[in-house]
Amino acid sequence: MNKVKLENRPVGPFPAALAGAMVDGRPNYAAVGAAGCVCLDPVLYVSLKSTHYTTAGVRKSGYFSINIPSADLLPQTDFCGLVSGGDRDKAQLFHSFFDAAGDAPMIEECPLNFLCKVFQTTQVRGFEVFFGEVVAAYASQGAMVDGQPDVQKIDPIIMMGASYCGVGGVIGHPFAEGKALL
Ligand SMILES: Cc1cc2nc3c(=O)[nH]c(=O)nc-3n(C[C@H](O)[C@H](O)[C@H](O)COP(=O)(O)O)c2cc1C
Repeated sequence: MNKVKLENRPVGPFPAALAGAMVDGRPNYAAVGAAGCVCLDPVLYVSLKSTHYTTAGVRKSGYFSINIPSADLLPQTDFCGLVSGGDRDKAQLFHSFFDAAGDAPMIEECPLNFLCKVFQTTQVRGFEVFFGEVVAAYASQGAMVDGQPDVQKIDPIIMMGASYCGVGGVIGHPFAEGKALL
């Protein structure tokens, strides 16, 4: 077996996202790596440290948004992970928009946005894992190809170890590439 044993910590790759919530009547955004898909239904999770400013907003409002930034938003994304909304107004970095389906801000500059209504919360070692039903979803027109959000147009930020990386593009299709091995 040609393997190197690593430290027991997940190194990625994880897509970077910006979790949004209303806090004290203002939009706030935190950088997150711990967010994603949960099951076949339209459900996303986000795992937020209990002490984060954003967490208080999700807890109170019952809504969060997941916004997928493009690589050109890397400075703003990293800033949202460096600084707390309790100290700085991070809403100034972006244009926020809303949907009638729920009270969480979304980021106009991000090519993909998902508004989620919390239906379950689990505490895990100082974090609150919010599970939310997707109640609205948006894509920027410029991120679409043939009516579908396109990975190269979206140009997501991938976290790997201590680095931010880009993606190369489409390499295949789910439930298709494995058929050769059936
Ligand atoms: C790339 C990156 C990913 C992060 N991922 C998470 C995460 O998944 N969960 C979390 O609670 N904090 C995460 N953080 C830390 C928060 O974004 C950071 O503490 C932020 O300042 C919290 O903002 P707030 O207090 O306004 O909510 C991450 C930070 C960075 C830079």
